Amino acid sequence: MNLPHWPYPKTIAHRGAGKRAPENTLAAIRLGVAYGYRAAEIDVKLSGDGTLLLMHDDTTNRTSDGRGRVAAKTWHQLALLDAGSWHSNVFAGEPIPTYWRVAKYCIANGVQLNTEIKPCIGRERETGAAVALETQALFSDPANHALKPLLSSFSTDALVAARDAAPEFDRAHLFEDPLPWDWVARCKTAGAIAIDANWHTLTPAIISEAHDHDLRVACYTCNDLAEAEKLWSWGVDTVITDAVDVIPFQR
Ligand code: G3P
Ligand code: MG
Repeated sequence: MNLPHWPYPKTIAHRGAGKRAPENTLAAIRLGVAYGYRAAEIDVKLSGDGTLLLMHDDTTNRTSDGRGRVAAKTWHQLALLDAGSWHSNVFAGEPIPTYWRVAKYCIANGVQLNTEIKPCIGRERETGAAVALETQALFSDPANHALKPLLSSFSTDALVAARDAAPEFDRAHLFEDPLPWDWVARCKTAGAIAIDANWHTLTPAIISEAHDHDLRVACYTCNDLAEAEKLWSWGVDTVITDAVDVIPFQR
């Protein structure tokens, strides 16, 4: 076993900071910071005209007052949407942020990003390359190297494109529950240093298999402190959580 260097915290806030603020907004990341979190997972995709922005779904329907596919809208159209009112009135008017602005906030406040490449269907390679190149532009200053984001994706193609565009960033391969039979091979194809699994999937045997293949282990989305402690005791490196108010941030 020769595990790669893993400079990422034991806890990362999911979609900015879970469910107490609208997901994938700067307001969410600020809330996580208020709870002591210094690491955030975000979902990043391309607008129709090539701007990287934070949104989980392929459409704007669930998390904004807009309707329709993100890939069919320009950044200008997306920037006018309200991404806060769906959550609660306190966040009314909260904008969809660009990746660039969120990264600037995180650099200024010492928040490490786990940037999930979340391509709209059919845009896997384009999105992977765009995220990697923008991350390179944001974090090329040596002063920002300590905060270099971890790139992750469910898409092997997106990760391969990210590796080809900017190989210097660590990559983690996300998988749904249950794991596909070829999860190790897909990690290796992507040059990933970690598997990032649904926490329900993980067992000591799977973690041991990952370690046998020199892969670190991260998981999502565990919101119970006792379960998180069990996962760490099994050798999980990082737990992604919504429960920033229940699971204290840990380096
Ligand atoms: O990156 C971990 C987690 O965010 C993956 O699931 O669907 O919440 O993006 P999802
Ligand atoms: Mg995600």
